[in-house]
Amino acid sequence: MKAFNVAIVGATGMVGQEFIKVLEQRSFPMADVRLYASDRSAGRKLFVNHKEIEVKETDNDSFERIDVALFSAGADISRQFSPVAARAGAVVIDNSAAWRMEADVPLVVPEVNPEDIKWHKGIIANPNCSTIQMVVALYPLHKVNPIKRIVVDTYQSVSGTGLAAIDELTTQAKQVLGGGATVPHVYPHQIAFNLLPEIDVFLDNGYTKEEWKMVMETRKIMHAPDIAVSATCVRVPVFIGHSEAVTVEFSELMTPEEARGILAQSPGVKVLDDTSVSLYPQPWIAAGTDDVYVGRIRQDFSHPNGLVMWVVADNIRKGAALNAVQIAEEMIKREWISPKG
Ligand SMILES: NC(=O)c1ccc[n+]([C@@H]2O[C@H](COP(=O)([O-])OP(=O)(O)OC[C@H]3O[C@@H](n4cnc5c(N)ncnc54)[C@H](OP(=O)(O)O)[C@@H]3O)[C@@H](O)[C@H]2O)c1
Repeated sequence: MKAFNVAIVGATGMVGQEFIKVLEQRSFPMADVRLYASDRSAGRKLFVNHKEIEVKETDNDSFERIDVALFSAGADISRQFSPVAARAGAVVIDNSAAWRMEADVPLVVPEVNPEDIKWHKGIIANPNCSTIQMVVALYPLHKVNPIKRIVVDTYQSVSGTGLAAIDELTTQAKQVLGGGATVPHVYPHQIAFNLLPEIDVFLDNGYTKEEWKMVMETRKIMHAPDIAVSATCVRVPVFIGHSEAVTVEFSELMTPEEARGILAQSPGVKVLDDTSVSLYPQPWIAAGTDDVYVGRIRQDFSHPNGLVMWVVADNIRKGAALNAVQIAEEMIKREWISPKG
């Protein structure tokens, strides 16, 4: 079996830690593994497959002989070092928003558009976490009955903001329960026992950048530039797992039974939908697992060709680390990458 040299940039972060876990759990064929972060974490030791590895500061020499470079250190670091890694001959799979909408960078969800991997020029972009889980659930339906319009409201966990946000929710929850005051650092307002309809920056059109990512990325991944999408993205005091209420208008009628049947056969999807026993997806159940869960599938009372559904997934796994590793696995399976040795 061929083994590949892998670099993880942002290895000490929320997604970086999950990269290590996913690579280990899926027995990804790794030869050399190198872990990178900023100078703050340089010298820290982390374990990969029971082997202790020292974290190094990312620099221009970090990617020599690397086959696959998994980036999760934010857009600025990706903009600086992804081209360096690509020039060194690595295939970069980037979790940030830096390259997603570039015309010469494929934006890939393996269950939807694996063929796009082939035309990469050194950098492949991993989509936004909220977009990934939505297209995994909707693409199998779209193939049967083309989607005309999507209206989605998200309920996004704090892990989507990284480790500092997990600390912030934990600290604030204790402060509120103890009767004390909270001081927001990561978010503009208190997140404990609250909801914030603000994810990423506000744009001139009134949407946030997170909401706009869902519009543009969905169209690019599904090769459907005409799909109308409107999103409202909300941060909720949940640690792990993003949830989405999705209202879809199809070209023709699709019954809930037909949608359940299609989704039950679709890769990466698990249908949890029996209201008689309160069975529906929940972030608490999705956390730590790989599937995209779909439930509450029902006819849209406001439109004859509409369906409404509830879609939940672990944003750190399928929304980030797992999707990126699946892209690398797809390249290996299709022999679109060979190790440098
Ligand atoms: N969390 C999610 O659900 C999610 C989903 C999809 C995509 N993403 C994206 O993944 C990226 C990381 O997110 P996260 O949640 O893992 O954040 P995080 O927990 O805050 O971790 C950030 C990581 O970036 C590293 N880093 C910071 N500055 C650096 C520098 N100058 N050079 C090299 N490394 C540096 C940090 O290293 P130090 O330890 O040295 O500070 C740390 O390893 C972001 O682009 C985010 O948008 C996150």
